[in-house]
Amino acid sequence: MTVPASTGVTAEEAATSTRLHTLKKSNGMEVTVTNYGAIITSILTADRDGNLEDVALGHRTAAEYIAASEKPYFGAVVGRFGNRIAEGTFTLDGETYTLATNNGDNHLHGGNVGFDKVIWDVKSVSDQSIHLTYVAKDMEEGYPGNLRVSVTYTLTDENQLIVDYAATTDKATPVNLTQHTYFNLAGEGNGTVLDHEVMLNADRFTPVDSGLIPTGELRSVKDTPFDFTSPKAIGRDIETENEQLALGKGYDHNWVLNKGVNATELTLAAVVYDPATGRVLTVSTTEPGVQFYTGNFLTGTLTGKSGKTYSHRGGFCLETQHFPDSPNQPEFPSTILSPGETYESQTIFAFSAR
Ligand code: BGC
Repeated sequence: MTVPASTGVTAEEAATSTRLHTLKKSNGMEVTVTNYGAIITSILTADRDGNLEDVALGHRTAAEYIAASEKPYFGAVVGRFGNRIAEGTFTLDGETYTLATNNGDNHLHGGNVGFDKVIWDVKSVSDQSIHLTYVAKDMEEGYPGNLRVSVTYTLTDENQLIVDYAATTDKATPVNLTQHTYFNLAGEGNGTVLDHEVMLNADRFTPVDSGLIPTGELRSVKDTPFDFTSPKAIGRDIETENEQLALGKGYDHNWVLNKGVNATELTLAAVVYDPATGRVLTVSTTEPGVQFYTGNFLTGTLTGKSGKTYSHRGGFCLETQHFPDSPNQPEFPSTILSPGETYESQTIFAFSAR
């Protein structure tokens, strides 16, 4: 089966069918979301002195995301299958499916027009929360099944941004949803994130081949640059001579969180601390893995919402998810959603300062 041609949204359509919604707390914390791609366009949060700054890279409006010369998935919900599928193909129930190969020989982040580039319906919105839905059609971007998907963003009094995903389908299909915000805890556009200290609650990661497809091994991080079991500056080992770092051009790998790979309870995934501002981001998730990506493909050519350029490694992503290429890796926890089942996934981004 071939991939049907998909058309994205034009800037004109975006201008009339999208708008911004802001979740607000009395302490000043704010999260702004557009229904284009369910993108988080900004996150205002306080540093150790109470100064609010926007810590999410991105643009102001949907039209600006569409017009941008590069589209690195800033702030978006990524799907139907976040991360890579080898050679853009998988077999399910005896049927072979062909997806767009939009990342070298491989499929990335749902294809040419993934969930990051469609207009979502806003079902409800308040100062605390916004609930968005999207229906992906059977064979949209080559995937089987009409998939009804929703994401809810909730901002709590404890400065937690809770992201809840749900999905149902009428045919078996792979589903792997994630949130692709690029964070810079010193403020968007304020230099690189190399000084940020990161702890990842993971003793293993999934090494990759030259196309960033997992080899299938779950490798120990011990005595490697991939060991973030104790807090470590992102920049400390990133230039070390290491085959995996060379393949990722830095960190662009999936870590296997310390819990049973099929466990679904909410557990700690990561803590990131910016020594300069004191801001702390704590990430918890029901997912088994997290793609830690250090903005290696940012080149300084994109200018963000406040006119600052986004430098190489000017942001990091913590994409909570199932492991890349799961549809082709039977040893990995399954990403197949069947009719009658409900896909549910939760990730919490908690903000504080010290
Ligand atoms: C991938 C990177 C990719 C980026 C998109 C990440 O999830 O792992 O390789 O470049 O998304 O900009």
